[in-house]
Amino acid sequence: MKGLILSGGKGTRLRPLTYTSAKQLVPVANKPVLFYAIETLVEAGIREIGIIVGDTKDEIKAAVGSGERWGIEITYIPQDAPLGLAHAVKISEDYLGQDRFVMYLGDNMIEESIRPLAEEFAAPETQYNCQILLKQVPNPESYGVAELDPDNQERVLRLVEKPREPQSDLALVGIYMFDKSIFEAVNAIEPSWRNELEITDAIQYLVDHGYYVYPKIVTGWWVDTGKQADMLEVNRLILERLDRKVEGVIDRDCVVSGKVVIAKTAEIINSVVRGPAIIGEHCRVVNSYIGPFTSINHHCTIADSEIEHSIILENSQVLDIHGRIEDSLIGRNVVVEKSPIKPKAYKLLLGDNSRVGILP
Ligand code: DAU
Repeated sequence: MKGLILSGGKGTRLRPLTYTSAKQLVPVANKPVLFYAIETLVEAGIREIGIIVGDTKDEIKAAVGSGERWGIEITYIPQDAPLGLAHAVKISEDYLGQDRFVMYLGDNMIEESIRPLAEEFAAPETQYNCQILLKQVPNPESYGVAELDPDNQERVLRLVEKPREPQSDLALVGIYMFDKSIFEAVNAIEPSWRNELEITDAIQYLVDHGYYVYPKIVTGWWVDTGKQADMLEVNRLILERLDRKVEGVIDRDCVVSGKVVIAKTAEIINSVVRGPAIIGEHCRVVNSYIGPFTSINHHCTIADSEIEHSIILENSQVLDIHGRIEDSLIGRNVVVEKSPIKPKAYKLLLGDNSRVGILP
């Protein structure tokens, strides 16, 4: 079985980070979201993965490479414009051929292994043409939603993309399994009101044309990392699974407690690090507090400051900040510092779509 990861599209909800970087490369516990997708497929036994790439293709290729590091073969499939998830399947027909495949949205993360489901779907005796994963959510209007037959929970009645008035709380998780019948569907459907070929419509086509779509409800966590709050949530969930590994230089005045990963070249001086937390290569933490659920990427400096439940991307600095920083997503090469220059005032240089919360 092959894998198809969708890593094109536009990350509008994570701006300004995604003005300069692909949303699938924003790190969770210092590892790009996209790598978790690749690792989930590799763990399921898949060795050939096609990755759909759009405007950010160079950056994605540079980060992911040939697949050698996972012992797999990666093929990049360029998509000229983000014309929809079903459009991505359409342009991959030559690559996928007659094989059954797993399609994975490159910004989704899931707790459970999909190996048992992938093995079942790949088995020659499997009757169904498509398997969808569903998860009960409190806000189904933000996702594709599936309605199941109340008398037979293994039968899909209807799929609707982001309905205003959802008839079910079962969201479509961004992991789908298809056989070749999906190509008939993606070639038959019309673009939606947002001018995208929707995978939801393609699966509805399968349902309407007598193909067997098998719904599987997942119980573990699932996060679509498209928004800041979701990124912080999944960062928390992944950090909780870390094993402690403290390798950096830590002076005697430090307290480092709980599940903490500190890279070999990091330096922690006169500080408290309370896990779960991760501190990357060449970071310097001085006279500071790093609290639970914080990921600090490589080459960052935190001095005379306190930070908790946050993600900081590489090469950034937080210097001499008095209020504690929480629930924050800080990009690359950012400087947050106390300004000694008069007048005593906030001095901001913020990109478009930035958001700053200032203490009252
Ligand atoms: O996260 C699950 C949801 O994903 C499902 O519940 C929805 O039914 C499904 O339509 C999808 O909704 P989103 O609005 O979240 O999709 P998004 O536009 O964020 O795209 C998902 C991924 O696919 C993302 O990594 C970008 C990539 N993509 C997207 C489009 C539209 C492409 O590679 N090409 C595209 O044309």
